[in-house]
Amino acid sequence: MSAVAILVAAGRGERMGADRPKAFLDLGGQPLLLRAARAFDDAPSVQLVVAVVPEGEVEAARGLLSSLTTSVTVVSGGRRRQDSVLEGLKQVPDGFEGPVLVHDAARPLVDVRLIEDVTRAAEEDGAALPVLPVVDTIKRLREGRVVETLDREELGAAQTPQGFRFDLLVSAYEAAFRDRVTVTDEATAVERLGARVQVVPGSPLNRKITTPEDLAWAESLLPGAVRA
Ligand code: C5P
Repeated sequence: MSAVAILVAAGRGERMGADRPKAFLDLGGQPLLLRAARAFDDAPSVQLVVAVVPEGEVEAARGLLSSLTTSVTVVSGGRRRQDSVLEGLKQVPDGFEGPVLVHDAARPLVDVRLIEDVTRAAEEDGAALPVLPVVDTIKRLREGRVVETLDREELGAAQTPQGFRFDLLVSAYEAAFRDRVTVTDEATAVERLGARVQVVPGSPLNRKITTPEDLAWAESLLPGAVRA
């Protein structure tokens, strides 16, 4: 079993309010991108890591990831997340037949078990993603008012890595770009083709770091963290 992992790290991370792109911010002595990349480096199924970073950060990212034992390719990303994923897809070797995993570098506490679960499910079913149960009651809102309460038993919060057969993901992306649709994850593009997407259990630790509070939360979980 061998997979290509695309780590999207080209967001500016404006909600962090920092002067560096989010993927380069420190979490317990390691930038988020390096932490995420190390998990994929440790995953037996991953043969190539493609890191997609902001323009002007390619050399910095190459240096950062030089200690990985898995092959690494670094390219610059685009304006939207899906533009960055597309740049990553261009680096997948011609004729590759294994699964492609797409992961947010902003989820640095991903673990090897989750990566392997998604890879296996994507190999078996063509498309897979990790999902967490939704614990809050979710409302549909319009103009500041509640219009509907959704049945949370039917809902799940999507995480990454999301895994797909390479040809399926390429077809889904071609269709999304052709139809000028903006997608916030890969599964949305694949669902539009009517393909079945398998679900594996997500991890509460695999939260996306979006705000300074998320970073503080992640820091509190690291070994040796001192609790106030
Ligand atoms: O903005 P958001 O938190 O949804 O981004 C999710 C992931 O997608 C992050 O790891 C971010 O770096 C990446 N991204 C990207 N290119 C963009 C926007 C976001 O690689 N243009």
